[in-house]
Amino acid sequence: MVLTLPDLLDAATLAEIHALLAAAPWADGRESAGSQARQVKNNQQLPHDCPQAQRIRSLVLAALDRRPGFLSAALPKRVFTPRVNRYGGETNAYGAHVDGAIRLLPEGQRVRTDISCTVFLSDPAGYDGGELCITDALGQPCFKLPAGHAVLYPGTHVHEVRPVTRGERLAVFFWVESLVRSDEQRHLLHTLDLALTALRQRHGDSAETTRLTGVYHNLLRQWADT
Ligand code: NI
Repeated sequence: MVLTLPDLLDAATLAEIHALLAAAPWADGRESAGSQARQVKNNQQLPHDCPQAQRIRSLVLAALDRRPGFLSAALPKRVFTPRVNRYGGETNAYGAHVDGAIRLLPEGQRVRTDISCTVFLSDPAGYDGGELCITDALGQPCFKLPAGHAVLYPGTHVHEVRPVTRGERLAVFFWVESLVRSDEQRHLLHTLDLALTALRQRHGDSAETTRLTGVYHNLLRQWADT
């Protein structure tokens, strides 16, 4: 399931993030890549423990917590520290790769990367190229979303960031370990949740919506690994 979250970050949050990034200490992005990805990765990242990265991480995590669509689609168990990257100039692309399956948090905890997420920070009119292209069963959809919008996609998919040939592309990226490992099962649960919410809004609660809510929770109980 590939899903977009429009306006995850509002204008005030974006303005604060851009002010923080104006004085940020950028580092080589290859530092966090595995051996295959390192060959094709050519961008910059904020060191994860610098004050700018810490503040931006807390803003993004707070926005995710306020977003029911994220919680329903991702069913998050753990979120790997959101980080910030920059593409432009000589460090402007990330070729085709699959993200490493397991990430180590600074505290030593492991996170399985079931879901990858990118939050676009730059106005698309301000740069050329920089599309995030994801290879799935139906083809290769490409995303170049307005600032503040996010895209979620399964960590299993080959993906790339096309070269930025003008301007710069700033983004936040992170991974989610889900309570439900299977993308197919997450998709079914999310579809059922959306349909039930719409039914309850349109017709109110009934014995049937109660039973369907029970089905949702009983499927989650079968599939979740807490
Ligand atoms: Ni990646």
